[in-house]
Amino acid sequence: MAKFEVNGRPVAVDVEDDMPLLWVLRDELGLTGSKYACGIAACGACTVHLDGEPVRSCALPVSAVEGRRITTIEGLSADGAHPVQKAWIDLQVPQCGYCQSGQIMAAAALLERQKHPTDAEIDAAMSNLCRCGTYPRIRAAIHSVAATAKGGR
Ligand code: FES
Ligand code: FES
Repeated sequence: MAKFEVNGRPVAVDVEDDMPLLWVLRDELGLTGSKYACGIAACGACTVHLDGEPVRSCALPVSAVEGRRITTIEGLSADGAHPVQKAWIDLQVPQCGYCQSGQIMAAAALLERQKHPTDAEIDAAMSNLCRCGTYPRIRAAIHSVAATAKGGR
C-alpha cells in the first residue's frame, strides 16, 4: 500500500512498492495526462512535480513518493488557466502534443524557481525531448510568461 497526495487530495493505492509512479497515476488513478514514451527517464514525457520539483515518473518507484506531494498536469490549474498553459495556447506551442504535458510541467517548475530565466537557463532546465521540434516555441512561451512575472529572479 502506498499513500501520498495527488493534486491536493490524499490517495492510497494497493500496488507493488516498485511499480513506477507513472503506472500508478495512469492505470490506478486514471490521470492520463502524463505520458509514457521512453520509460527510462530520458525524454520527460512523464514529468510531474514531486514536492514542487520536476521528476520523471516512469523511473520513480511509487515507494519513493510515500507521504509526499505529487502534482500532475491535471492539477496544475483547475481550468487550464496556469500562466504556462495560457502561454502554450497563445503561442500555439504543441504540434502532435505528445510531449507537451511534460514540457509544461518542466517549464512551470523552472518558472517557480526562476521568474526570468535566460536562454541558457531555459536550455539547461528544459531537457525534455520533442520529436516535433517545438523547442523555439517552448522557449518563446517561457519568455512570454517571464515577461509578465513580477519581481526579480
Ligand atoms: S517516459 Fe519518462 S522520461 Fe520518457
Ligand atoms: S509536440 Fe510532438 S513530440 Fe513534442
